[in-house]
Amino acid sequence: MRHAAARRPDTFNTPQMKLEILPSLLGAYFGALESEIKRAAAAGADALHIDIMDPHFVPNISFGPDFVALARHVAPALHRNVHLMMSRPDLFLESFAKAGAQTLQIHVEADCDISETIGRIAALGMRPALVVNPDTGVEALEPYLDSVDEILVMTVRPGYGGQKFISGCLEKAKWLRARRPSMDIMVDGGINGGTASQAIAAGVNQLVSGSYLFAQADMAAEIARLKALAAAAPSLSQP
Ligand code: DX5
Ligand code: ZN
Repeated sequence: MRHAAARRPDTFNTPQMKLEILPSLLGAYFGALESEIKRAAAAGADALHIDIMDPHFVPNISFGPDFVALARHVAPALHRNVHLMMSRPDLFLESFAKAGAQTLQIHVEADCDISETIGRIAALGMRPALVVNPDTGVEALEPYLDSVDEILVMTVRPGYGGQKFISGCLEKAKWLRARRPSMDIMVDGGINGGTASQAIAAGVNQLVSGSYLFAQADMAAEIARLKALAAAAPSLSQP
């Protein structure tokens, strides 16, 4: 995961990328969020994925900026990767920056000026990232590829944890990796030990996992097992 300030140009001499694992807070036990966040940090997570929803964009409601601030308070060293499933993410950028978001992901389907919003995210000191839903063609991302640090390819329809992985979405990861050898490419939805391998084979270097990871009695062992899958991908640095 790179900070915006450390952005480097893409090259066809593919750099070795690290495989990163991001537990999704939506899969945590909500009765003990503080210890669940600490558990993810202690298990070797590379970042915490925090899902923010509004009921116009998805058929559900989840967390708000205060949960990002909670994560910063409980595990300050754990990078906060914030996924805005919102029709108007542009109205909340300052709130999430203030709460401690470090990567801010907006959907390409959002009802705002995408270029302008990406620029404002970067100006606020966060890494801008763009998300694409299963029913949206990957070409929709093309105008923005040079202005974001990360692309999140949804592998379920957003709104709920615990859904079935849509493997056809990995074609988008392949398309993106062919064009951007050193860009962070992430998947979110239905990731477990089996689907993780498929995603890595498609060029993904960041895996979000909610219900699967938080259900593990030994999350550290499972994160280590997922990281070991990097051995199968020549473009990833070896675990
Ligand atoms: C879904 C969210 C995901 C969710 C994934 O809308 O964006 O981050 O937590 O959950 P799992 O890993 O259970 O599919
Ligand atoms: Zn998410």
